[in-house]
Amino acid sequence: QDKVDQHTRIQFAFEGDTVTIDCTYQTAYANPTLFWYQQKDNGILKHMLNKFAKSGNSEEEFKERFHASLNKTAVPLTIQDVCVSDSAVYYLLC
Ligand SMILES: *[C@@H]1O[C@H](CO)[C@@H](O)[C@H](O)[C@H]1NC(C)=O
Repeated sequence: QDKVDQHTRIQFAFEGDTVTIDCTYQTAYANPTLFWYQQKDNGILKHMLNKFAKSGNSEEEFKERFHASLNKTAVPLTIQDVCVSDSAVYYLLC
């Protein structure tokens, strides 16, 4: 059974901080692909990046400051040099 657990619900940060959104997952797939999405006030879910095995892809606008590191149980999202416009809901899908 596939399962995602984003245990931190709300996170606050100061501009310029590095923020990590912890997220664990469980899946029956040996080599799952995990997708991070960003949702802003307009409600649109924007694909940010995905991770699989030892690889992954990032959309251009997220390449510089958004990174995710994947292991067998977790795929935390790190946002560097955070700014006001990063205020959003972040979703992990697997
Ligand atoms: C996977 O990463 C998480 C968060 O970085 C860490 O807590 C966990 O111990 C790691 N698990 C494995 C199997 O390496």
